[in-house]
Parts: sequence; structure tokens; C-alpha cells
Amino acid sequence: MNDQKTTKHTVTVTNNATGQALELPVYTGTHGTPVVDTRSMHSKMGMFTYDPGFKSTASCSSEITYIDGDAGVLLYRGYPIEELAEKSCYLEVCYLLLYGELPTATQFDEFRQMITMHTMVNEGLKDFMRGFRHDAHPMSILVGVVGALGSFFHDSLDIHDPRHQEISAHRLIAKMPTIAAASFRYSRGEPPVYPRNKYCYAENFLNMMFSYPTYKYEVDPDHSRVLDKLLILHADHEQNASTSTVRLAGSSLANPFAAISAGIGALWGPAHGGANEAVIKMLEQIGHPREIARYVERAKDKDDPFRLMGFGHRVYKNYDPRAKLIRIEAHALLAKHGRLGPLFETALELERIALEDEYFLERKLYPNVDFYSGLIYRSIGIPTSMFTVLFAMARTIGWIAQWKEMINDPERVIGRPRQLYVGPAQRSFHPRLERGHIPGETGCAGRKHRCSHGHEWPGDKNGQRKAKGEGCDDC
Ligand code: SDX
Repeated sequence: MNDQKTTKHTVTVTNNATGQALELPVYTGTHGTPVVDTRSMHSKMGMFTYDPGFKSTASCSSEITYIDGDAGVLLYRGYPIEELAEKSCYLEVCYLLLYGELPTATQFDEFRQMITMHTMVNEGLKDFMRGFRHDAHPMSILVGVVGALGSFFHDSLDIHDPRHQEISAHRLIAKMPTIAAASFRYSRGEPPVYPRNKYCYAENFLNMMFSYPTYKYEVDPDHSRVLDKLLILHADHEQNASTSTVRLAGSSLANPFAAISAGIGALWGPAHGGANEAVIKMLEQIGHPREIARYVERAKDKDDPFRLMGFGHRVYKNYDPRAKLIRIEAHALLAKHGRLGPLFETALELERIALEDEYFLERKLYPNVDFYSGLIYRSIGIPTSMFTVLFAMARTIGWIAQWKEMINDPERVIGRPRQLYVGPAQRSFHPRLERGHIPGETGCAGRKHRCSHGHEWPGDKNGQRKAKGEGCDDC
């Protein structure tokens, strides 16, 4: 980990009520926004920082991914996403994110062989899957199965052992497509398909999704190429909600399978990775380009829960570079295979209208990675319920690389945020019979009543307050 902690630059925080001034160190990274080290705030100034949603909080230092939200830049280990998407492949990007450098030809061959050797899963997981409802959402199966994976590898769960860290990373990268495809097949009542060593990563997944014992399935090279590119684009994205969940869960020293299962759960939400599924549902809800203007107005209405899914981003205040690349792929598929269906036209028109609307321009709400990805998944036959599963499959390398970096970080401590308490002031416990009751409340015949002043009176025989006056006479 580069040590960016040596700095002469500081800021001073002054408590204007007491005049106390606290000088805090500022660290600058390779690129991006400098950070103020506020760790001494509580001990020296008796205060916490307050930042719901961590909009201005750096949770860690990391060498893995860099995003410039204003410029629309995304780097994996310093390499621009555009170059990796164009010139690399997902498995090579996995090596880069995990080890920090692009592999030599020999290193890549060895890595690919290692991953290939781990694509099978224990047969016991088939029985485990049978515990799910027949129509369970594949994401619920993925959360459960990945969390259970740790139970098959008791020989390699020492998270401080570099070899155990590496074999867990290899197993997760290798097995996610197998589990993802099996969760889809299970949700359709179809038998799982075993991985085949002759296929590359994306081909293997498509074959496990769509081949059947009854006929020979040919992987469409266009489909595997575009899927591989989508996997690259989704591989990592610094400290997003699901990666932060993996880091927080992992900081308790839980095993990586448990930590990544937690990350899968966080990704599922429609505000995060679940947005790709939500975009399709939104486009279907809009139905036709002529309805767009009405929905755009709804999206602007604070009293209306409707949001333009696939728009906006916590970091990107420019066009998400991934969305740009996916959009190009969508047009290429459209050109080659004809229409991407009416939803694509609706998406294009929605993007055009939104990007001319003052509300969206003012708030810098541009299409994000999820806006077009679902349209491409549909065009290669992936069902909507699998969109977020694919996001989780692609992001597994990001999660495990960030988990490994966190575990080996000399600054690692268990994550434990503080709070501003705004609940009831300290008060004493009163026995139930003395807590008084709501006027008209029944069931208190012969019981004592007590008002908040401590006055007591017996309940009447019918269990009501005395008919003469509600509560005690003195109040
Ligand atoms: C991913 O973090 C990552 O890196 C995530 C990700 C990754 O690769 O890991 O990039 C993947 O999660 C992409 C985002 C997918 N989510 C969606 O597409 C869901 C729709 N988008 C929004 O829910 C929202 O934009 C978020 C959650 C993505 C970002 O929310 P923020 O940063 O908290 O922004 P905000 O809610 O404070 O919004 C700022 C303003 C608000 O209006 P005002 O209060 O200023 O008047 O913009 C409005 C919001 O109401 N707004 C939207 C909107 N998103 C924000 N209005 C309409 N439609 C939207 N989609």
C-alpha cells in the first residue's frame, strides 16, 4: 500500500464555543480529492464527524480503482476502463485487480488454468439449492449459496494466510458463473449444466445458462464477446455500497465467502446493482415513447416515489464512462442484429429528453452503468431476473480484491461507525401495572392506575377508569 500518510499539509478545526483549535493532517493520493484525517476528533475535541451516507467520507486508502466523477474517468489499477474494455478480457482484468499488474502471457495462462480447475462446485450444493422455493429469485439463491460455500472449504479459511486468501479468491472467481447459471436453471425447474474446460469465462457461463441435454447449443461469439466486455465494465468501482459492505463485514474477520454474501445482498437493492432490473421494469412501465414526458415529470415530483432508474450517481456528475461504452455496444448489436426491441427506442428517447431537461442537467443526472446494460442482456437472451446476478458475478473480483486489500491493510480495524443520539433522555423503568393506561383501555378491572404524576387509583369493576373523571382527581 503506497504510504500517502507523510504530509506537511494540515487543516485546523476550531470549536467556536470554546476557542479550541485542532490541527488535522491532510493526505493527498495519486489522483483525486485529498482527505483530512479526523481520527483524533473524538479523543481531542470530544466530537464525532457527521456524514449520513458517507458523501464526504473516505473509509480507507486503496490502490485498486480510481473514479473522477466530474471528468467521467474510471481506472482499474491505473488503466483507463476504455482501454481495458477494448483490448483486454475479463479474466485478465481479474488478474490485474487481484495482483495489481497485468499478467505476462505465462502468468495469464497459469491463472486461466487455475480458475478453470475451480469452476466445479460441490455436489452437495445441488441439494442445498433444492431448499429454495421453485420460483425463488436467483439473487436470493446466490446470497445463500455463496454464504454456504465457506462450509466446503474448512481447509482454507485462515484469512491471515496469503495462500488461503488466494485460493478463496480463485474459488470465488471460478465458481460464481457456475452458481449463477445453476440458480437460473433451478428457478426454471431445469437441470444444472456443468462447466466445460474448453470454454472461456463468458462462453462457459452462456453454455451453463442455455445448453440442454436435448440439443447442441452453440455459443454465439458476439454474445460472449459483449458479455465479457460487460463483465469488465462491472468488475470494480471503488467504495460503492456493496464493496463497503464487503469491507465492513470482512473487518470483523469473517471469512471471505460470508463477506461477499453480504455484498451480494447489498448489491441487490434497486438503488444499487438492482437498478439494471429496475430499468427494464421502468421502461416497460413507460410503455411507449409518447408517455416519456409524463414519467419525466413524475421523476421530478418529490411527492411521487417514481425515479428514473439508471439515472444519477453518487460519484459521476458526468456521463458514467461505462454507460458510454455499453451504449456503443447496444448500437452495435442494434446495427448487426436489427432492433433491440421497442424498449431500446424508449430508452434512447428517454435519455434524449432527460438530458435536455433542466432538472436533470442541474443535478447532473446522467445515465449510469445500469441504464443500457439490461437492454444488452435481454438482446443476448438473459432474463431480467438474472441481470443483477450478472452484476454480482462481474463484481466478485472487485469485492475479493478489496477484501484482500482490507485484510492486509496495516490500518485495518473493525469498522464501527458512531452516531448522534436523538432518542429519549434517560428515564426509569416502571412496572407494567403502574404505567397508567390509554383512556378507554379495557382489561384493567381491579388493577391500580397511575398517572404520570405518580397519583394512583383503582380501576372500576368493569375495568374502566372511574366514571367520575378520567385519570386521578388531582390532575
Ligand atoms: C450503481 O456507487 C457506485 O459506484 C454504484 C455503481 C457501482 O458500479 O457499484 O455505480 C452501480 O449502483 C449505479 C446506480 C444505480 N442506481 C440507480 O440507477 C437508481 C436511480 N438513481 C438514484 O436512486 C440515485 O441517483 C443514486 C442512488 C444512484 C444516487 O443517489 P445520491 O447520490 O444520494 O443522490 P441524491 O439521491 O441525493 O439525488 C440528488 C438529487 C435529488 O434531488 P434534490 O433533493 O436535489 O431536489 O437528484 C435527484 C434526487 O431527488 N435524483 C433523481 C434521481 N437520482 C437522483 N431524481 C430522479 N430520478 C433519479 N434517478
